[in-house]
Amino acid sequence: MKEEKEQLKSEIIALKREKNAVIFAHYYTRPEIQEIADFIGDSLALAQQATHVHADILVMCGVHFMGETMKILCPDKKVLVPDMNAGCSLADSCKAEDLKQFIEEQTRRLGQRPMVVSYVNTTAEVKAVTDVVVTSSNAKKIVDQLPKDAPVIFGPDHNLGSYINSVTGREMILWNGACHVHSRFSLEALLQLKQQYPDSPVLAHPECKAPILAVSDVIGSTKALLEYTVSSDKKQFIIATESGILFEMQRACPEKEFIPVPPEVTEGTGCSCNECEYMRMNTLEKVYECLLNECPEMTVNPEIAAKAITSIERMLKMS
Ligand code: 13P
Ligand code: SF4
Repeated sequence: MKEEKEQLKSEIIALKREKNAVIFAHYYTRPEIQEIADFIGDSLALAQQATHVHADILVMCGVHFMGETMKILCPDKKVLVPDMNAGCSLADSCKAEDLKQFIEEQTRRLGQRPMVVSYVNTTAEVKAVTDVVVTSSNAKKIVDQLPKDAPVIFGPDHNLGSYINSVTGREMILWNGACHVHSRFSLEALLQLKQQYPDSPVLAHPECKAPILAVSDVIGSTKALLEYTVSSDKKQFIIATESGILFEMQRACPEKEFIPVPPEVTEGTGCSCNECEYMRMNTLEKVYECLLNECPEMTVNPEIAAKAITSIERMLKMS
């Protein structure tokens, strides 16, 4: 089994060279995917990096919206996505048609069109009706740069929006979406862990619910949390985000200990893990197949892409 895996990895690396391809992986993917990736990062770093690489093929191991963003930013490159069904519950919680209707309602109510700020975890259609895209790394910085008196709609993540409102003092109108992984961490379990490890800081992603963030010491994107674990002189950390990041944390700091916060057990499903099943759909077998056959290939309707790129490029300039 281990040998088969190593064999597959070698074949992927050979194919990558032969086809002048580059593999990108989000921190939430399986460890073996992170091991064969050329770039591992959070959603902002992956988008930024994509615009700088010289390659014919880009393989995006993450979820669908990440592949879409990459294709919009690199229209002349072949962007492959190992599994087109790797979606995102947060992106699914905001359909472009519903957002358009919401913008119209708010425009009528306010007597002016609000600015629309969308988290990167959205479809290209949503980005096409957005003024500026943000990620969890740059949301505060970008919202701080918006005209103070402009009304703003922020979507789709309600938890991230509330957090950004609290740190910027703004009252953005929030869309009511959420990530099913980040919104299910158990506050009770976290409080117990804090008692058990009183010297260990709690690190949380801003997609977590407000009560989790209220008892956390560090709130940030996956990259910010990883950097904190590297620079801190603490030896133990309590982590409230998707568990894939633990691999990179442990690789960067082998001498430190990372304690994941468990989720609330969902009645009926028995689910008690904090993994994003969409990110886990990226497997070595699928990466190999997609490189070999050069499919599935990401495509974005050119009209939508032409509109969406404005809000993505605005983000890259303002970050
Ligand atoms: P990052 O912006 O931290 O990469 O988060 C993306 C994501 O999907 C979080 O669930
Ligand atoms: Fe989407 Fe949540 Fe998975 Fe991130 S962890 S990709 S927000 S479903």
